[in-house]
Parts: sequence; structure tokens; C-alpha cells
Amino acid sequence: MGELRENMLRQQMQAELEKAHKAEAAGNEKEAGSRYVKAGAIARKLAYVAPRARSEEFFHSASQYENVGNLIKTTEGEQRAESDEMIDKMIVTQKPSTKWEDIGGLAEAKGTLKEAIILPFVGGRPDFVKITKSILLYGPPGTGKTLLAKASSNTLNATFFEAKASGLLSKYFGESGKIISSLFGKAKDKQPSLIFLDEIDSIAPSRSGDINESSRRVLGEILEGMEGFSASKDDKVIFIGATNKPWDLDDALLSRFQRKIYVPLPDDESRKVIFGIHLKGAELSVNVGDLVRRSDGYSGRDIAALCQKAINNMIREKNPDLESLTSKQLETYKLETRELLPSDFDDAFEKVKPASDSSSLQKYADWEKEFG
Ligand SMILES: Nc1ncnc2c1ncn2[C@@H]1O[C@H](COP(=O)(O)OP(=O)(O)OP(=O)(O)O)[C@@H](O)[C@H]1O
Ligand SMILES: [Mg+2]
Repeated sequence: MGELRENMLRQQMQAELEKAHKAEAAGNEKEAGSRYVKAGAIARKLAYVAPRARSEEFFHSASQYENVGNLIKTTEGEQRAESDEMIDKMIVTQKPSTKWEDIGGLAEAKGTLKEAIILPFVGGRPDFVKITKSILLYGPPGTGKTLLAKASSNTLNATFFEAKASGLLSKYFGESGKIISSLFGKAKDKQPSLIFLDEIDSIAPSRSGDINESSRRVLGEILEGMEGFSASKDDKVIFIGATNKPWDLDDALLSRFQRKIYVPLPDDESRKVIFGIHLKGAELSVNVGDLVRRSDGYSGRDIAALCQKAINNMIREKNPDLESLTSKQLETYKLETRELLPSDFDDAFEKVKPASDSSSLQKYADWEKEFG
């Protein structure tokens, strides 16, 4: 159900984004702004249509596109704002509800993280107990890095500041560096806080050697920000960066992280737990051990998508007329369900393949040995 619609919306969103980029390149700010806002609205629709595993991503994209669009529109022709308003628009602030139990496996990463984040909050801590305020989470896509950051924030009942580094580098943010510095300032004001900076590798490509001006400024501000609150004994601000490409990180940035935590693909035992999380409440007529064996190499996100696919297969079979119902009819419609069968999963395994390949996994292992 909804898959056709999802594809259609996705295409529309891509088309709007392309037009936005074109307008941006041509210096047509007004049009670029409206296109971004439109793309954001479509992403929001997608978030409602898409399975749970992807809807969160779409919500995030929606806020970012809408924010960028509105920012371009409201600051058109003016000097770019450097106000708090700008930060509010670029940075998603929330109190996440993610709990540690929502995250399957990762016992080691969870343990290290819990220990690291809790210490700074312990009062009456003797001076020789050094605390960790900056943590790098690295590993393949979809393994739970964002979930871990959210659960940490939840545990600390902290204000959660989330930004994607790539989003801060748009050419519209000539003041990206200022956004970062205000971000650190704001986090300090609102403490306890947790700053989560995703895709942190996009700021500091170390291999190419050349780094553009905007990246350089952002990097400088991050380094300074990390320095600042690491030095202070009393600030309750934690900084978590996440990346799929730790080997791309700038050396100076890398060395500022006090802890580097590998977030690997789930092993057999962990996949079993993750299946349990994503099939919670569903009736099963399948051998879970079999699912675990067949999903070797799948990330948590792949497993979530797989489960959703199997559930959709069941729903579609039991409710063949669903797509032709009007919205009025849908309101009163009672969804038919049945237990999930091996055939639902056979199809899902056909269609959902693991996102990471083994050669890139070796790269993480090698990197962990050297830097982890
Ligand atoms: N360990 C896990 N346990 C349960 N669900 C998981 C786990 N890892 C990933 N998932 C599922 O996949 C989704 C994406 O996970 P998350 O956003 O934490 O991945 P990520 O490591 O941040 O990926 P990326 O590197 O692409 O940002 C989650 O919302 C959840 O549905
Ligand atoms: Mg993530």
C-alpha cells in the first residue's frame, strides 16, 4: 500500500529540488526559495505515506527544505541574517523520546556511551575523574547512530540540537561559521544540552587537501566550540558527531574527539533483537532464526525496511481494495490483518537488499584498529 504514491511523490520532490538548484545557480532567489518550500511540503507528505523506517528521514528533509526555502525567501537581496532566528531555522531542537531499549544490540557502544555521557552530570566528582564531552559515532549507514544520540539526549533530559553538517554549507549560509558558534552558545544557555552534528565528514574532506572557504570557517568554529566547552568543568553540554566516512575527517577535528565509538552492523544475536523491535505486535508464523540467518549483512535500517515490506505484503493481500477507497471511506474502513507468513518475507528479502557491502566493512575495521 502507498508504495506507488511514495514513488510518485519522491519523483515530484526530486524534480522540485532540481529546479530549486537550477534557480539557485542562476541567481534567481525568489524561485529557488519557493521551490525549496514546495519540495519540503512534498517531503512532509512523503513522511506520512512512507513506512515508519523512512518517515523520520522525510520529516527531517521536510524541515530542512522548508527552512532553507523560507530563509532564501525572507533574506532575499538582504544581507544574510546572523540572528538567532537563523539558527532556529537551521537547527532542529527537540526532546527525543528514543529509549535505549528501542535500540537492538550495540551493547558495547551503548555501554561506552552511557558511561561517557553520564559522568559530566555527576555532582561532587573529584578532579582526577576526567570527563568526556565529545564523542564520535562512526559506522555503516543505518546502524543506529542517530538513535544512540537521541537516546543519550533522552537519558540526560537534555535539549537536543540536531543539524546535518551538509545542510550548513549551502552557499546561502555565508554565515555558516556564525551559525555554528551561536549553536554552541545556545547549547550552553539551554544546558543540559546535546549537540548532534550528523554527516560531519562533509565539513572536512582531508584527502583532497583543498577545503572551501565556507567549510574552513565551519570547521574552525566547531574546533573552537569543542575546545571551549571541553575546557569548562561545569558546562553540561555534550557534543556528538556522526559519520559513515571517518577516514575523510580532518585530523584536527578527529583529535578533538575524546571518544570514538564504532557502531557496527548487527551480529546474529543483535539482529534477532532488532527483528523483535520492528515486528512488535505482529503475529508471526515464521521461524525467526531463519530470518536472522537470511539477514546477515543487513543493517538495522535494512531490517526495519524488510519488516515493513513484509507487513505491507500482508496488508495488501488482505485489503485488496484499499487503494481505490476514497478518503471518506478510508476513515471508517477496518483494516484486515493476518499473521505474517514466510512468503511475505520471501518477497521482502527479494526486494530489500543490504545497503553496505563487505569491502566497505573491512575499511571500518581497519580504521578502528588505527584510530578507534
Ligand atoms: N540497532 C537498531 N535497533 C533497532 N532499529 C534500528 C537499529 N539501527 C537502525 N535501526 C532502524 O533504522 C533506522 C535508522 O537508524 P539510524 O538513523 O539510527 O541510523 P544511522 O546509523 O544514524 O544511519 P546514517 O549513518 O545513515 O545516518 C531507525 O530509525 C530504526 O528504525
Ligand atoms: Mg543518522
